[in-house]
Amino acid sequence: MDNISKKIRKHLRIVKTYEGVDSNTNLSKKSGIPTKNLIRLNANENPYGTISEVKNSLQGIALHEYPDPEQKTIRKAISEYVNLPDNLIIAGAGGDEIIDLILRLFINEKDEVIDCIPTFGMYNFAAKLSNSSIVSIPRNNNWELDIKKIISKITDKTKVIFIASPNNPTGNLAQEDQIIDLLETGIIVCLDETYFEFSNFSFLHLLSKYNNLIIIRSFSKWAGIAGLRVGYAISSEIITKHLMDIKQPYNINVAAENAVIQTLNYKDKLFENVKKLMDEKIRLEEHIKGCQNITSFPSQANFILCKFSGFSSEKIYDIFAAEGIFTRKFDQKMLENCIRISAGTPEQTDKVISVINKIEKSNYI
Ligand SMILES: Cc1ncc(COP(=O)(O)O)c(C=O)c1O
Repeated sequence: MDNISKKIRKHLRIVKTYEGVDSNTNLSKKSGIPTKNLIRLNANENPYGTISEVKNSLQGIALHEYPDPEQKTIRKAISEYVNLPDNLIIAGAGGDEIIDLILRLFINEKDEVIDCIPTFGMYNFAAKLSNSSIVSIPRNNNWELDIKKIISKITDKTKVIFIASPNNPTGNLAQEDQIIDLLETGIIVCLDETYFEFSNFSFLHLLSKYNNLIIIRSFSKWAGIAGLRVGYAISSEIITKHLMDIKQPYNINVAAENAVIQTLNYKDKLFENVKKLMDEKIRLEEHIKGCQNITSFPSQANFILCKFSGFSSEKIYDIFAAEGIFTRKFDQKMLENCIRISAGTPEQTDKVISVINKIEKSNYI
């Protein structure tokens, strides 16, 4: 081993890089399609983009001053949005930073973190960085949680359980009785509601009873500001205080802070886009119902997990990519033959449907 590698903390010597969403430049290079013609349905972003009220408000921000380390304005705005006191709220650079902060707070070396696969890959990645072991419990055939199995895997080293609801990439919600069973164990339960604005279903009401509950939310998907990186956690006063203590002082930059305030001022306009996206998701689901070789799993989020019989995930991805449509492919056995397609604009759905129709006719075999 070389001199530098020896100095690196053991658990960080070999880390598999988190495979984030490809940049437009990469997508264009791989597919040969000019960036302006790319259709990004691979990251559950908002294809309507950032609303003009938010964009215009970014002009004239004082960029030479540091943002508020106490996040007073942004926490107050979120507090009004979720109708809970601001001392229960902390903002982070995306839900991703919140996940990282939670593990920094609770994990000692060799502790265990539970996730329920298939699910959002960041839980696994962040657990590895925190030097904990990830215990992954498979979901059942309908992608529901296997609560008995989860509880049977809890040890005195288990510190955090991550559950996404709706789950990414399967799109289904967790059930309240199951979440209560987990909360009753006393272990920290992180309920990731990044897609809440699409599902309109939340476990927020459980906060008043359980101080081991942390709800994670995001402005990336519904609000069209993924590039500015803002997410937040709502939890008990004690957890919020400690998360605030350990966060980097200026984790929310001034542009992001301003954009969130404006987003919440114009939330009704954004909800119109949320509605349009859910209508397109339903249109695509309905179309798939009439297909012979394709099925989709019921989704409460702005994406659909689709299974194509006779085609690998990679192959389906390539077929869509050749038409300029980028979807999310998977290499896990559980998601063999599956891709995830984000809800798009009506024109984008038309294009997706036309590719699906070609696949149905097996023009691609
Ligand atoms: C379930 C889930 N949680 C959290 C995130 C992180 O989102 P962000 O860091 O953009 O807020 C994502 C993004 O894909 C997600 O799917």
